[in-house]
Amino acid sequence: MKNLFEKTQLGNITLKNRFVRSATWENMTTEDGHMTDELYKIYKELAKGEVGLIITGYANVVQEEQPNPGMMGIYNDSFIDEYKKLTDLVHKYDSKIVMQIAYGGTKTKYNVGQRIIFAPSEVPERGTKTLGKSMTKEEIDYIVDAFAKAGKRSKDSGFDGVEIHGAHTYLINQFLSPYYNKREDEYGGSLENRMRFLIEIYSKMREMVGRDYPILVKLTASEFFDGGLTFEETKIICKKLEELGVDGIEISGNIHGKAKSMVGQSFDGYEIKKEGYFFEYGNIISNEVDIPIITVGGLTNINNIEKILNETNIDFFAISRPLLTEPNLIKRWKDGNKEPVKCVRCSKCRTANGNYCTIFNK
Ligand SMILES: Cc1cc2nc3c(=O)[nH]c(=O)nc-3n(C[C@H](O)[C@H](O)[C@H](O)COP(=O)(O)O)c2cc1C
Repeated sequence: MKNLFEKTQLGNITLKNRFVRSATWENMTTEDGHMTDELYKIYKELAKGEVGLIITGYANVVQEEQPNPGMMGIYNDSFIDEYKKLTDLVHKYDSKIVMQIAYGGTKTKYNVGQRIIFAPSEVPERGTKTLGKSMTKEEIDYIVDAFAKAGKRSKDSGFDGVEIHGAHTYLINQFLSPYYNKREDEYGGSLENRMRFLIEIYSKMREMVGRDYPILVKLTASEFFDGGLTFEETKIICKKLEELGVDGIEISGNIHGKAKSMVGQSFDGYEIKKEGYFFEYGNIISNEVDIPIITVGGLTNINNIEKILNETNIDFFAISRPLLTEPNLIKRWKDGNKEPVKCVRCSKCRTANGNYCTIFNK
């Protein structure tokens, strides 16, 4: 029987347990994305709370574009020293830390009109209605290069790995999506072409960080609407990523805010689950690839998580909102208090004054 609290390998990262803090934008940096005391405190609490692997909030790879305020930056070398302090702090508590890196894009209402926002094609984002600029080949090369350099900076800062954010309707996800990507060049049309942007990012980053540095990718299982990226396509993308040497894949959805109300609905033949919304999708993928799969979304009960661990090939369990409510959740479970999470998944954790649990931590 597999155990949630056993030492486990994710690529060449040795984790003390199978719990991951899923990337969670905190909205607590300085205006230009630098660390604050508040943020160091949050990461210290998570590490003390025995999270095996902490994934940072998404960090922007170019200075001129960020989809939200208060995001961490990784767009130049000025961040390296402060992130060394962060990674040292986390390592002191025997926890590991991976930096998530992202280019936002049109899933934003933040300062729209004050900057150029890239997109694969001029298709408004379904929720925000924001329209982006269809990228030229030079602009694609520029963003590919920015991701690769951000990966190298993550390595230089002592992060145990880097996660490319390819989910949640951000730019990479839009390139993968037949709904958002209407390009007629080598980056659009067939799935092979739609994958090209992600693959170029990964490959250039791999060249810069070397074979041994862990690179993870976060993907959406399905876009959960007609005309969007399908689960069948996501499976093919995962196989390709494995072939190229990606160290692990986190399977998410675009819909975590809404997922609770969609439990029981089926998309692409599989169901959104009450416990671990997207785990059924992650499980199918975990049976088709040999690299570790992390499931994220709606995990609340350690007994159910243990069951998923033992009945599937999923190795890692990522949690976001419940750790805003209880940063010591994993330690609490480990110490024997197996009550489910306190978080009620209301998604009211995003505020103008930082993202925190507004229900229990007023
Ligand atoms: C406040 C907040 C910030 C988030 N920031 C990020 C992020 O930076 N990158 C990311 O990939 N997902 C982000 N997410 C999504 C979470 O990582 C996670 O996929 C989602 O909340 C579902 O997990 P949960 O049910 O455990 O909360 C965020 C979610 C919340 C609530």
